[in-house]
Amino acid sequence: MTYISDMKKLIFIDACMRAGSRTRRIATPIIAELGKRYSVETVDLTRNIYPVADNYTLEDRNQGVVPAEDVDLAKRIAAADRIVIAAPFWEMSFPSALKVFFENMSLFGITFDSNEKECYGLCKAEKVMYITSRGMNISTGDPLEQATPYIKAISYLWGWGELTVVAAQNMDYSSEKEIEERITKAIEEGLEICKTF
Ligand SMILES: Cc1cc2nc3c(=O)[nH]c(=O)nc-3n(C[C@H](O)[C@H](O)[C@H](O)COP(=O)(O)O)c2cc1C
Repeated sequence: MTYISDMKKLIFIDACMRAGSRTRRIATPIIAELGKRYSVETVDLTRNIYPVADNYTLEDRNQGVVPAEDVDLAKRIAAADRIVIAAPFWEMSFPSALKVFFENMSLFGITFDSNEKECYGLCKAEKVMYITSRGMNISTGDPLEQATPYIKAISYLWGWGELTVVAAQNMDYSSEKEIEERITKAIEEGLEICKTF
């Protein structure tokens, strides 16, 4: 028998801003499957909208003043074994709530650090899954698709490992039947990835 405390930790970052989100419909069975092997903590960005890091935030940070709950969450993110991010394709990338969340969690000495020459990551997760759905017929890796490159870049900064992407596309220009088929296919792909995730 596996006790919760023995299980590896997975943080699920839910940036699916719309009620009835297709992206969350893809993510839900994937997270349920991973929940059999990981203890899952969900960070719900639809309920917790983080403030933009402004001059005051940065001045506070320079004085070592950071909200205690942000420090705690950033530590849990750094310690997590796996990360899953679900976010729809917005403005050719992802919702700004997710970018602002990254800003708030990008804490020196917790999620990343630096030496005299460069920054390096402090996060432990060897695998990250990014789940999305896109309105237009734009594939992962297309130069017009600016979400995956960003998530790869923040993974580099924070030290996260391999990124796999589960995507459904052309969702706004398809019949209901096609949309459902694409959601089902993306779930199947995600569940296949779960076997080695
Ligand atoms: C605010 C907003 C911005 C969007 N921007 C884009 C976009 O730039 N490119 C695109 O292909 N689709 C865009 N879409 C369409 C969504 O990517 C598409 O409908 C997706 O399936 C929505 O996912 P959801 O059901 O999880 O919210 C946008 C939708 C919204 C609501």
